[in-house]
Amino acid sequence: MKRIAIFISGRGSNMAAILREAADGILADCCRVVLVFSNDPYAPGLSLASAVEVPVLCLPPAGLSKPAFYQRLAARLAPYSLDYLVLAGYMSILPPTFVGLYAGRIINIHPADTARHHGLHAYRWAFEHRLPQTMITVHYVDAGVDTGPVIMQAPVDLRGTVSLEEVEWRGLPVEHAVYSRALRAVFCGPARA
Ligand code: GAR
Repeated sequence: MKRIAIFISGRGSNMAAILREAADGILADCCRVVLVFSNDPYAPGLSLASAVEVPVLCLPPAGLSKPAFYQRLAARLAPYSLDYLVLAGYMSILPPTFVGLYAGRIINIHPADTARHHGLHAYRWAFEHRLPQTMITVHYVDAGVDTGPVIMQAPVDLRGTVSLEEVEWRGLPVEHAVYSRALRAVFCGPARA
């Protein structure tokens, strides 16, 4: 059983989906969510995690330099003996020194094909470019921004969408499904058919 922490900065819908799968779904026999971390004390996902009695840690970066913040965070994480960090809408770029502490053990979800789009506002990018399809990407985190090796991708049909909200509304359920499937593949090997 892998010990994982989920990192969030906001709503936490991907986190909630992973918590459900870890409780009694496709992740139940391969990982345990031992911590939810947020860099934002007002992240709505924190109360969702608390409601299902998952330990939460919040460390706002205010007043700290980025290196100092991540040094402090690394110290706070150490006692949890984490196997993997799972980023789920975590909106801060991890510095290379921190990535190095968990090399090959940090996973992220990006709501676009990372071969075509990096960084923020991927759904807006897809909508503004009128893409007929976007590609949700689960990938390892390396020292770059959304540049690490791809673990799994899943397409989202965007044909006929008329608003950014609709694009996101179509994409999120795909994110929720593919993230747990990808985590299962990493933690335990591919699911049996
Ligand atoms: C998700 O769409 C996730 O893919 C995206 O933020 C949203 C978080 O939603 N992440 C990125 O854009 C990372 N570059 P959630 O808090 O409801 O999971």
